[in-house]
Amino acid sequence: MGIKKRKAYELEIIDIAFGGKGLAKPDGLPVFIDRCIPGDIVYAKITKKKKSWAQGKLIKIIKESSLRKEGKCNYCNFCGGCKWQQMGYDLQLEYKKRHVFESMQHIGGLKDIKILDVLASDDIFEYRNKMEFSCSSKRWLLPSELENEDIKKDFGIGLHVPGTFDKVIDIKCCKIMPNLGNDILEDVRQFIKASNHPAYHLRTHEGFWRFLMLRHSVAFDTWMVNIVTKSKEMDEVKGLAQILAKKYPAIDSIMVNITDAKSGVSIGKEEICLYGNDHIKERLGKFIFKISPNSFFQTNTKTCEKLYAKVLEYASLTGTEVVMDLYSGTGTIPICLSDKAKMVYGIEIVKSAVIDAKENAKLNGIENCEFLEGDIKDVLPGLKQTPDVMIIDPPRVGMHKDVVKQVLSIGPPRIVYVSCNPATLARDLEMLYPTYDIKEIQPVDMFPHTYHIESVALLLKR
Ligand SMILES: C[S@@+](CC[C@H](N)C(=O)[O-])C[C@H]1O[C@@H](n2cnc3c(N)ncnc32)[C@H](O)[C@@H]1O
Repeated sequence: MGIKKRKAYELEIIDIAFGGKGLAKPDGLPVFIDRCIPGDIVYAKITKKKKSWAQGKLIKIIKESSLRKEGKCNYCNFCGGCKWQQMGYDLQLEYKKRHVFESMQHIGGLKDIKILDVLASDDIFEYRNKMEFSCSSKRWLLPSELENEDIKKDFGIGLHVPGTFDKVIDIKCCKIMPNLGNDILEDVRQFIKASNHPAYHLRTHEGFWRFLMLRHSVAFDTWMVNIVTKSKEMDEVKGLAQILAKKYPAIDSIMVNITDAKSGVSIGKEEICLYGNDHIKERLGKFIFKISPNSFFQTNTKTCEKLYAKVLEYASLTGTEVVMDLYSGTGTIPICLSDKAKMVYGIEIVKSAVIDAKENAKLNGIENCEFLEGDIKDVLPGLKQTPDVMIIDPPRVGMHKDVVKQVLSIGPPRIVYVSCNPATLARDLEMLYPTYDIKEIQPVDMFPHTYHIESVALLLKR
């Protein structure tokens, strides 16, 4: 066929490739196209062409795959949030398991690893307990909005269109967060539109309103509203807080984070509590957790309980063990393991998370957890004790290679590795493999409608 860049072709999608994209193979050349499902016949424009692969952009579906389902949300063909909404959930789980399996084989060179069926999320909509919406002075228009001259393009609050950093889709209803969040989002949108301050401009770095972060507590059905602004002009923000606090009894906390940092992070250099508590509370099993606006907390609360139950099972505690939890966040894993272990140490780099972890231990009357603040690679070498069990739950980038070396030199008999990225899990397991048997991997679906998958691996020292 002689595939050429910028030309469009009719292609048959034959599989799902790494990264969740549809795969076509005209004349044997792999072409990766987002939002396609095996069995689709599509018309796609080639946007990138390399020697051994190409990337395409979906223009039109000519014939829909029999596997295709109706998306529930108006934005599912455009938004970066959940690109797999039109794929049946069982099929999503199948591809997620395969993603873990193929990562082990192709990235880690690890064959014959036992990978269990994915533990599914009970809720596949309204499951996210945290959403972060960006404010932009450039609103991206849906195809159905293009002809409508009444729609102003100078403000949008929502999620990014993949591949653009300064344009957002003005999201009116996001189906993966509990619905009250959409009402709060709408009120914030109307307030900002009528306000005297403009939205932040990601290219010029001018403007005021930056992000709206919403957190929901499943156990208490309460909300945290966190407004991120560029500067500390609080009159209007206080007005917004008053309106929201009055209208929504479920709002337990309204925070403002102020940051003029040019990067797109929502963590403020200064944080002010405008209403209620400076945190939100959540429950996992029998334990209660206090979560500050910028502390990490697993985003699917109910499935997190399944994840931690697997961690507990793999840790195989009898009450006499010393456990070390690397990357401990707000202390959730140490606290959930505390009554089955002799002592649990948590190490975490974010100060507010360590403060939360210590308070969380106190809140639950736990005395056998200790939390250390710092970069794992600096803290680990100073620790005297060899743990019986080590839990490792790093961010998407996985472990720093110095940390892998330190773990190998400490040599705990049992490691439970929790990962949200099969690629870095495979890379790190390959380095641990000469010393550790990889007994099995349990994928857990924390993120329905995305290709993301969490995994828990059990490693035993040879
Ligand atoms: C995937 S989260 C896991 C948190 C926790 N285990 C949980 O389940 O909620 C990863 C955590 O690692 C922390 N972190 C990232 N890099 C780190 C580093 N170099 N040293 C220590 N902690 C780090 C992050 O702040 C975050 O809290």
